[in-house]
Amino acid sequence: MKSDFADRYGPWALITGASSGIGEAFARQLAAEGLNLLICARRREKLDSLAEQLQQSHGVEVRPLALDIGKAGFMASLIEATGDLDLGLVVSNAGFGLKGPHIEQPPEALGAMLAVNARAPMLITQALGEQLTRRGRGGIILTGSMEGYMGFPLSAAYSATKGFVHFLGEALWQELKPHNVDVLILAPGSTDTEALSKQGFDKNQMSGVMSPERVAREALQNLGRRRIYMPGASNRFFTWLLSSLPRKWGLAMAEAGMRAAMRR
Ligand SMILES: NC(=O)c1ccc[n+]([C@@H]2O[C@H](COP(=O)([O-])OP(=O)(O)OC[C@H]3O[C@@H](n4cnc5c(N)ncnc54)[C@H](OP(=O)(O)O)[C@@H]3O)[C@@H](O)[C@H]2O)c1
Repeated sequence: MKSDFADRYGPWALITGASSGIGEAFARQLAAEGLNLLICARRREKLDSLAEQLQQSHGVEVRPLALDIGKAGFMASLIEATGDLDLGLVVSNAGFGLKGPHIEQPPEALGAMLAVNARAPMLITQALGEQLTRRGRGGIILTGSMEGYMGFPLSAAYSATKGFVHFLGEALWQELKPHNVDVLILAPGSTDTEALSKQGFDKNQMSGVMSPERVAREALQNLGRRRIYMPGASNRFFTWLLSSLPRKWGLAMAEAGMRAAMRR
């Protein structure tokens, strides 16, 4: 029997960044709800193996799509891959971060991050949002970050891309409401995924790191209920504190926190 969730957001979901971390957790949980999946990322082997597992364990159809969404023409491939699917849910989750002084970042890496974290969600929500509004039912989840609430020193460009995602999601929440399309901005704090080590952090030295399974589960529970959701009470408290302080103190505290995390 189909779940209420599948009735509302099925029969197909697209998940970007599904080869690991939070996106993989979304894929596992949506398959368990009975949704068919189009899972997208660059690493084909990871997608193939996840698709096989989910098809076997949940009897849903899972299509892997190996695609670099940082590349200029990626939307044409995505549109082609979604062409015959009745998409009810779009999870725009792929992203990555660069940490350290802004002036030391390689310009090509900054450009790639802007393309994946900001340009891709903008184009995906434009094209697939149009499909969702036409069918008059569905949802969009945009993975932002705790860093999307303010500029984070030593993560300047990453936090700016996530601020972009938060503004995009907030506006779409309002725009798409009359079309019966729910929008949720997911704003995770530190989550135990490949992203931590890729950014040079040691999860064993960090406190309050959440599991990607919990982050994805709470996001799905809050879709259709809220505009933005941040998993973790300590993340919510820290964000409230930073944004309640005079901005110059908040920025100094954010920088101190980032320096401490990078030293560990
Ligand atoms: N982990 C955290 O502490 C944390 C905190 C706040 C927000 N977030 C956000 O959560 C989202 C998921 O990250 P994660 O923590 O789950 O990290 P992750 O395990 O590194 O997952 C990132 C995903 O994005 C995909 N991706 C990266 N570049 C891509 C590209 N050019 N084209 C297509 N797919 C690409 C990766 O797949 P391939 O490498 O196979 O392409 C992978 O599936 C990101 O938007 C991240 O900014 C994470």
